[in-house]
Amino acid sequence: MRFRIISAAEAASFVKNGNVVGIGGFSSVGTPKAVPAAIAELAEAEHKKGNEYKIGLITGGSTGDQIDGMLSRAKAVAFRTPFQSHKDMRNAINACEVNYFDLHLSHVAQDVRYNFLGKIDVAIIEAAAITDEGEIVLTTSVGITPTIAAKADKIIIELNTSHPAKIRGMHDLYEPVNPPYRREIPIYTPQDRIGSALLKVDSSKVVGVVETDLHDNIAEFTPVDAVTAKIGDNVASFLIAEHKNGIIPKEFLPLQSGVGNIANAVLGSLGQCSDIPSFSMFTEVIQNSVIDLMKSGRISFASGSSLTLSESKLAEVYADYDFFKDKLMLRPQEITNNPELVRRLGVIAINTALEVDIFGNVNSTNVLGSKMMNGIGGSADFARNSFLSIFTCPSVAKKGVISAIVPMASHVDSSEHSVKVIVTEQGVADLRGKSPIQRAQTIIENCAHPDYKNILWDYLKLSQDNSHTPMSLRNALKMHLAFAETGDMRNVEWS
Ligand code: COA
Repeated sequence: MRFRIISAAEAASFVKNGNVVGIGGFSSVGTPKAVPAAIAELAEAEHKKGNEYKIGLITGGSTGDQIDGMLSRAKAVAFRTPFQSHKDMRNAINACEVNYFDLHLSHVAQDVRYNFLGKIDVAIIEAAAITDEGEIVLTTSVGITPTIAAKADKIIIELNTSHPAKIRGMHDLYEPVNPPYRREIPIYTPQDRIGSALLKVDSSKVVGVVETDLHDNIAEFTPVDAVTAKIGDNVASFLIAEHKNGIIPKEFLPLQSGVGNIANAVLGSLGQCSDIPSFSMFTEVIQNSVIDLMKSGRISFASGSSLTLSESKLAEVYADYDFFKDKLMLRPQEITNNPELVRRLGVIAINTALEVDIFGNVNSTNVLGSKMMNGIGGSADFARNSFLSIFTCPSVAKKGVISAIVPMASHVDSSEHSVKVIVTEQGVADLRGKSPIQRAQTIIENCAHPDYKNILWDYLKLSQDNSHTPMSLRNALKMHLAFAETGDMRNVEWS
């Protein structure tokens, strides 16, 4: 080993109060675990002594408890970007203890390279192996690792022995050069390999290697319920019809599918349908359902930035790695989510909304306009540039007291200009070629829950005054107000 082996506590001692720390990996897998936990302990010890200790945290996307959980509980985070999904970090953000700013995931590495986010003091990355030449085999994700390793003053490597060395070759690491010298990214099919399988770092920056065997502990997915199953079926039926009608070419197109249980259910339904040919994924996160569909021959290949698999599913992949090794490729999120590639490859993007307004503006991030949920993630990278952008959500939340379909979104992440299709368990609203009034009619009729249909039709009637976009300024956010004041949007009274 060309690098010095150190303890997690010693590694943490290189991270000083006020430092900006870049975290390798992505989507709660393949991220370092031992060193961030030691930083949290260090922060608590410093706070007990009455000393200031806070760091800035730039990650690829969500992280597990050892990063977002422990560091937020230790009150050790000054700022945080981009996507996060840990409840303790979310609470700290919403209590304004952490300055959070949300970025498109395709922008994060580029913003670091452009120096928009200041200096990176320390990069902490997870490795499955380190070659004699000091090159690194990453584990189950890539995220922004190549960029933070290149930009940071110091690098700490967690060598995680729970990953088999045979995953060498799964990664394709490529960084575009900065303008004005940037050329096209030479990916023309999802399978194209353009970069290096190993991460090359400046050895002089590596302050030490921490050995661990900690697992990521991704929870098993909750079983598909009636609502998510119906959403999955609705998306699948819609895509099958588009394929039959020749809108989607006969070879089919690569799919991107968002995070969570709905995304898993959608893929499950699509995979069961033998009317469409086996397809590939050009996506950000590779979830459990992709692995099942590879085994059944429905998915031929998946390129993503993370293998976000439950413990048992990852074990299946490692046990049968010869079968999977030509079917999986992990790349930086700047590449998986790249607008140029998403547009060129004709990706069909399927993402999840918290709420959608009657014109098709989508809120994926801010509950009731102000409380941060997770962040925009890669949803808008894909939605804006895809062949077809679909957003899904249950028509109601919290046992029906909240309608996901509202007159005006309380926050907008993907605007009506990027959103082509809305799907709930009630049905499908195809917004292509429709004016705002026609969009509103289609969404209310096809996607709203029966409890809210008449409420929304009444809103549309009262706000239609011969203008292009029906809008009642007095009433547009009244459903949200009714929920805030009475706990149920159905109590809204239009005026
Ligand atoms: N108002 C208030 N709360 C709402 C709501 C609304 N309109 N819609 C949903 N919720 C609540 C749910 O009740 C649930 O609360 P709970 O955790 O207390 O049960 C929570 O929000 C999550 O909703 P759920 O239906 O379980 O959604 P999900 O797990 O499928 O996640 C998003 C939905 C939008 C939060 C998630 O997909 C996301 O973070 N998207 C943005 C990033 C992204 O799309 N990434 C993929 C790109 S590759």
